[in-house]
Amino acid sequence: MDIKKIKSDSSVIARNIIYFENIDSTNSVAKTKPYENGTLIIADTQSNGKGRMGREWISEKNSGIYMTYVLIPEIPAERINILTLVAGLSVCEALNKMYPVSFKIKWPNDIVAEGKKVCGILTEGVISQTESKAIVGIGINVNNRCFPDDLKQKATSLYLLTEQISEREKIIHKISDIFEKNYLDFLSGKPFMEKYEKLCVNINQEIAAIKDNTEIRATAIGLTDAGELIIKKEDGTTLNINSGEVSVRGIYGYY
Ligand code: BTN
Repeated sequence: MDIKKIKSDSSVIARNIIYFENIDSTNSVAKTKPYENGTLIIADTQSNGKGRMGREWISEKNSGIYMTYVLIPEIPAERINILTLVAGLSVCEALNKMYPVSFKIKWPNDIVAEGKKVCGILTEGVISQTESKAIVGIGINVNNRCFPDDLKQKATSLYLLTEQISEREKIIHKISDIFEKNYLDFLSGKPFMEKYEKLCVNINQEIAAIKDNTEIRATAIGLTDAGELIIKKEDGTTLNINSGEVSVRGIYGYY
């Protein structure tokens, strides 16, 4: 990766870029080192890439984007989680601008196209008495030509969607520009849920929410201001579900 090519115009969220050829996980290093607000950590591969719910994130060398934004916003700790939706929205908008493919968001923040996942985001909060740090880790399948058998049905890459090799630096640049704008809007209190809901594949769809191995069948009907998914159960009652504790999948196929 040629970091000079990224040259983001962003002066807030990626004003300091740190590159590793190989690291265990860009999220782990972001959590353990005292990087300043607005640092973007990028790696060409990860030996221990982490996904949500304790899963592994396969990080094929030079094929994907593995990056983590370190953000220290002055917001209450409980709002840190919402940043994960802002990041998902930003990646989705960036990819829609760059490619003739329809990218959508699977709540809370998977980016999907043609029924498969192309990007995952893992946001972790490091909350201390003095500050709330958001570690926003983004993994994008870019030039991957194939996936292991167990992922083939669920995962895709920009290469498989477009039949084109992409320059990862250009994508990072675009995401940083859009994320910066959305992040500043979010900090100034501008609502973004409407934009998010328009791109979210789950709204008005039947879903299965899985919590502690128990499945709840329901219809997703919207989002709260805190980014929770509002679901309507078969008995007509509604429930707000939090992305940290529940995984959601479609009844029909992966969505
Ligand atoms: C998921 O969909 O489960 C989230 C995947 C997040 C993967 C990215 S890759 C860069 C950053 N470092 C990690 O270890 N994980 C995130």
